[in-house]
Parts: sequence; C-alpha cells; structure tokens
Amino acid sequence: MDRIAIIGGAQLNGTIPVSGAKNSAIKLMAASLLTDEPLRLTNMPRLADTRFLGKLLMRLGVQVTESDGPDGQQTLLHAPEITSGFAPYDLVRQMRASFNVLGPLVARSGQAKVSLPGGCTIGARPVDLHLQAIEALGAKIDLHEGYVYAQAPRGLKGAEIRFPFVSVGATEHAMLAAVLADGVSVIHNAACEPELVDLQECLNAMGAKVEGAGTPTVTITGVPRLHGATHAVIPDRIEMGTYAVAAAMAGGEVRLSNARPGLIDALLDKLKEAGASVEETADGCIIRRNGQRLSAVDIETAPFPGFATDLQAQFMALMTTAKGESRIRETIFENRFMHAPELMRLGADISVSGGEARVRGVDQLEGAEVMATDLRASVSLVIAGLVARGETTVSRIYHLDRGFERLEEKLGACGAQVRRIKGDGEAEL
Ligand code: EPZ
Repeated sequence: MDRIAIIGGAQLNGTIPVSGAKNSAIKLMAASLLTDEPLRLTNMPRLADTRFLGKLLMRLGVQVTESDGPDGQQTLLHAPEITSGFAPYDLVRQMRASFNVLGPLVARSGQAKVSLPGGCTIGARPVDLHLQAIEALGAKIDLHEGYVYAQAPRGLKGAEIRFPFVSVGATEHAMLAAVLADGVSVIHNAACEPELVDLQECLNAMGAKVEGAGTPTVTITGVPRLHGATHAVIPDRIEMGTYAVAAAMAGGEVRLSNARPGLIDALLDKLKEAGASVEETADGCIIRRNGQRLSAVDIETAPFPGFATDLQAQFMALMTTAKGESRIRETIFENRFMHAPELMRLGADISVSGGEARVRGVDQLEGAEVMATDLRASVSLVIAGLVARGETTVSRIYHLDRGFERLEEKLGACGAQVRRIKGDGEAEL
C-alpha cells in the first residue's frame, strides 16, 4: 500500500487551487438516478470516493463518463432507466454515503434493496434518521440480513419530516427522495451545511422545487419528473480549511484560490485568534504566518456555521506546537480522536478524556512512522509532518485518497517536501 513521506521544516509559499467538494459531489452524483436525462457535473473532484460511487451507480443503470476538458474536470451521468435497485454490501461498505442511493431509487422506481453501511472508525453512525425520512414519505421499510428493503409501488407522498437532531446525510437523503413525491414535504431541523444549498441548486436546475436549504426548514414541492441539467460542484470547504491550517502550521504565505470565502469563517476566526494572518480574497483567502509562534486556542465542533468536525483533526495538529494548552471538544462523532495517539508518536503532548482533548504545545515535533485511521485524521498527520524534524511517514493513505485530490502535488508546488512511496506489496495489519 502507498505511503506518504514528508520531510519537515519547509515553509509553504504559493497558490493552492481548491477542488470541488467531495461531500457535495457524491450526493449530486446520486441525484442522477432521479431523471432519464443526462446530468453534467462540472468542477468535479477525482477521488476514490467519487470512483466508488460511480461504480455503484453504473451497476444501477447509470452511464458515467468522466472528461477533462478546457472547462475542467466533468462527469456526465445518464440513467435512461434504472436497471437494478440493488446496492450490495461490498460497494456500500466502501463508502457510507452510497447509502443515499436508497431514496432516489425508491422515488424513481418504487423499490430498492440497499445494504446498511455498517460502522465506521469515527463513530457508530447509524442511519435511523435516513430511514425515518424515507418511511415518512410513504415507503414501506423492512430490514433483513443487513439490507434495507424499501417499497413504494404507488410512489412517495409529501410529508412533514421532523429530525430530532441535525444530520447532514439524512437531510440530503430526504431532499433526494422528496423531489419526486406527490405533494409538499417540509423538513424541520434540517442541517444547514453549504453542501445542502449546492444540492438544492442542482435539484432545482433539474426542475425540482426546493426552497430553504441552508436554513433549518426546507420545503420541497414534489414534481412528476426531473430533467437533465449542468451544475458546478461547490468548492471544497474542508480542503480549503485543511490547506489554511497547513499554511499556518508550516509558516509562509499561501493563497487559496477557486474557493468561496465565507464557508469556513469559524476556522479562519480561530486561525486569527491563534496569531495567523488571514486575508479574504474574491475567490478564497491568503494565509500568512511569518516567524511568530502561534498561541493555543480552544475549539468545539458544531454543525455549520460552527467549527466543522471535518477540520478538528487538522486543528489539533496545529495546536501541537502552539504556545500554551488548547482544549478541543468533539461534539458530532463519539470516536473522532484516533489521530491523537498518532500525533503523540510525533512527540505531541495530548490527553483525551471522553469528548475532549487537551493539547499542550511542544517546541518541536519529531518525524516518525504513523498510521492514518480515517480521511481527516490522515491529513492531520501530514500537517504535523510539515514541521516535524526529519522524516514522517504516513501509512494507510488510501484514507487520504478518498478525499484529497493531488495532495502531494498541491503541497509540493508550495515548497513542501512531500512524496508518495508506492506500495511494495508489504502487508499492513
Ligand atoms: C457528513 O456525514 C459528512 N459526510 C461527514 O464528513 C461530516 O463529518 C458530517 O456530515 C458532519 O458534518 C458526507 O457528507 C459524506 P451526520 P453524515 O448525519 O451525513 C448521527 C468526511 O470526513 N446520526 O450529520 O454521516 C451520526 O452518527 C466525513 O468527509 C444518527 O445518529 O453526518 C453523527 O453522530 C466524515 N442517525 C451525527 O448524527 C442518523 O440516521 C451527525 O452525523 C444519521 C446521523
């Protein structure tokens, strides 16, 4: 399996173009199941997760064609008919968000058999709210042997959906199903993440009638059919935030372009509080840190517009060398500190108790061999490696490849000494 090796000590200077958002792209791809006309997605990231979902969609009857033209990376998805309503465990377990094909399949063809996704290293991550929403829309749901069987032979019906707490995936799933339901659906306590606004824009471009995404109440007036459309995927706010943290960690001056300022304000405020300089630009921001050591600041993860859980690991890495003690509270997932022991292998001083980590900044990290445990954890190790003395090697970077496009190239172009070591067949236990 591939590894990434980083030699610490180089400042970052240059421009990093931000890719399209993984967590938006994979829901937009699922929307292609809702119409027999082609959906063209532009600003598409090329990632392991988009490949996984492409594979599943092809199995369901979607023709998936990728192209890289003068207008950038595009994916054309065309499902003239749904040839199968079966999403097998083998494909769903590789990428949990594959579960979101359930709603569109039932909405368009009245039935689906989709594997439950199972657990995940960052938490139990049940899908009860997803099922609650699809059931509220009139589908009959049965669970057997790890599979969800959903049936709505006469189509879905508009409904009031009240989530007991905020879930990004369940809100998206409810929207993806309700667009073809008969009547009006209202989602209460909806997630407000920018990816939901992106989904609303794409669905409306396809002829849907969705209002309110980005607020806690989303109203969907069902339509009998959707048509084809072209839609540009929103920039990846987590990738943008990750490179902002990397620049603050390594020092220097990095311009993040092709992005949308305003999507990561909670992070940028914390970077400023820690002592980095942040300048917003028309298409992103410039992060600078010249010489001075950052100060420790506390963070607590929260749904948007709060501090994103997907940036928590990266911020923890940043705090390992800040002056003072930082308290990091994780409130979204119950087991999202697996990067802490790996950061400690690099010399970080961290103690974890329940949902809180205390990070006491050290003067210097030391390079070591570390292991990636999930997508965002793996990039936090790369960030720490940027300043660790000597070489840091991160193994199991298939996690990283799920959500960061051309990471070595983007960091390398700014002066980081990062290289990929191709797998030598050696088994990793
Ligand atoms: C999305 O996951 C993202 N994934 C996550 O990013 C992100 O961390 C998360 O939203 C929060 O922002 C994708 O978009 C593919 P949730 P999602 O439903 O939708 C619990 C990354 O690294 N819950 O908002 O799965 C759940 O266990 C990934 O890119 C239920 O209990 O997140 C969690 O504790 C990691 N029942 C909380 O809600 C349900 O039916 C919030 O999860 C659904 C969720």
